[in-house]
Parts: sequence; structure tokens; C-alpha cells
Amino acid sequence: MIAEPSYTLESLTDLLAGKNEVDALRTLAALFPGEVVFSTSLGYEDQVITDLLFSNHIPVKVFTLDTGRMFGETYQVWQKTNSRYDTKIEAYFPNQAAIENLLNEKGPFSFYDSVENRKECCFLRKVEPLNRALAGNKIWITGIRAEQSQNRQTMTPLEWDEAHQLFKFHPLMDWSFDQVKEYIRENNVPYNPLHDRGFVSIGCQPCTRAIREGEDFRAGRWWWEDQSKKECGLHSR
Ligand code: ADX
Ligand code: SF4
Repeated sequence: MIAEPSYTLESLTDLLAGKNEVDALRTLAALFPGEVVFSTSLGYEDQVITDLLFSNHIPVKVFTLDTGRMFGETYQVWQKTNSRYDTKIEAYFPNQAAIENLLNEKGPFSFYDSVENRKECCFLRKVEPLNRALAGNKIWITGIRAEQSQNRQTMTPLEWDEAHQLFKFHPLMDWSFDQVKEYIRENNVPYNPLHDRGFVSIGCQPCTRAIREGEDFRAGRWWWEDQSKKECGLHSR
């Protein structure tokens, strides 16, 4: 039996150096067949990656974490995306008993009461399903861009994720917001109409608002919380 080659962050970074987004995604899919997954929130950035993957037939599993609290517009763009590329984005849904318990114990808006409650809801509706979606995989692709927050400016396009024991790849890390918008427009990619109404980063409906001119990209997420606590746990390092 031939031993599977193992890659380090350095060797994999070297392999991807100088490659454009499509070639980098192709390389990863070829190196780790059946072990590369892309998580989409169906927002602007993620729709670019979805288009890169599906229109170039790159074999990567595309999944979304359906929290059960998303905007109607988000479900519509999910449907449109399936139709446009004649494919199916896979859904991961929270554990039924856990959500019933949360609703029965604390009601439907517990997340406004405390950071602890908000993190509990994010854990049950996003983090636990994410852990199931990532299990057994080697590469996790995301739509994170450096410009989105100060924390994200310290990230590199390829990272080792200690918590999930896999590599994370952010192909749009160095893209500007204008580049993202331009790609969507030029390629006629389906997108969430909320982006035309001041929503930049779109998460769950009760926890996302539009931003005003001059506010930072993530100002519309969990806006009632202190800036330093705004992590939902998907990308905590
Ligand atoms: S979050 O941590 O604040 O929720 P953000 O909305 O900025 O994340 O999105 C960053 C990346 O996390 C997205 O590009 C996507 O890869 C992933 N992501 C966020 N929300 C979801 C979701 N509901 N389903 C799947 N992936 C998601
Ligand atoms: Fe719950 Fe809000 Fe987190 Fe969505 S963003 S999982 S509704 S706390």
C-alpha cells in the first residue's frame, strides 16, 4: 500500500503559491479527493466561490448551515443557486431536540438577553452542525476576506485549524469588496437582494441589520454586543 503523502502548512502554501483562485481550488480538490468542503452562507463572497467551483466543475462538497432563522431572501438565493448550476447545496440543520429544549426553556429570542445565551444559540444552530459537516475532511474553504474585520487581517489564505484538525483555505482573502461586487455583476451570479439594501455580512435574520455609511463591515452583526465579543464560534482560533 502506498502511504498517503502528508502535507504541512508550509508545503501546501508553497504548492498554492502563484496560483489563481481556480487553479488553487483545483489543486486542493485533486490532492484531497472527496475531502474538500466549502461552507456557504449564501452571501456575496460565498456566491463568488460557489460560481468558481460549479462553473469550473471542481469536485468540492458545498454545504450551508441552515440555522432555521435565516432571511427569506437567503432561502431564495439558495434555491436560485441550485437551479442556476443544476446542483444541490447540502444542508446541515441543528439537532431537533436541542432546539426544542432551547425554545422551551428560554423562548425564541434568548440571544438578546446575554452574550452567553447568544453563544449558546450560535453553538446549537451553527457550531454543532458545522462540526458534523467538517468531520473527516482535510480542507475547509470559506469566503473570509481580510478587509472584513481587524481579526481577519491577521489571517493568511491557508491556515491550520487546530480545533477541527484540518486546513482552512480562504481563496478571496485579498479581494476588495468592489472586486467581489464586480465579479458577481460580470458573471451574472445570483445574489442575495438584501445586499442592495445595505446588508453587507448576512447571518440570521434576528441578528443581522443593514449598515450605515461609514460603519464597518461587521457592524450589522450582533450590533447590540460589545465589539470584542462578536464571534459566533465558526471561526474562533
Ligand atoms: S460569521 O462567523 O460571522 O458567521 P461570516 O458571515 O463573516 O461568518 O462568514 C464567513 C464565512 O463563514 C463564510 O464565507 C462561510 O464560509 C462561513 N459561514 C458563515 N455562515 C455560514 C452558514 N450559515 N453556513 C455555512 N457557512 C457559513
Ligand atoms: Fe442564534 Fe442569532 Fe446565532 Fe443565529 S446568529 S444562531 S439566531 S444567536
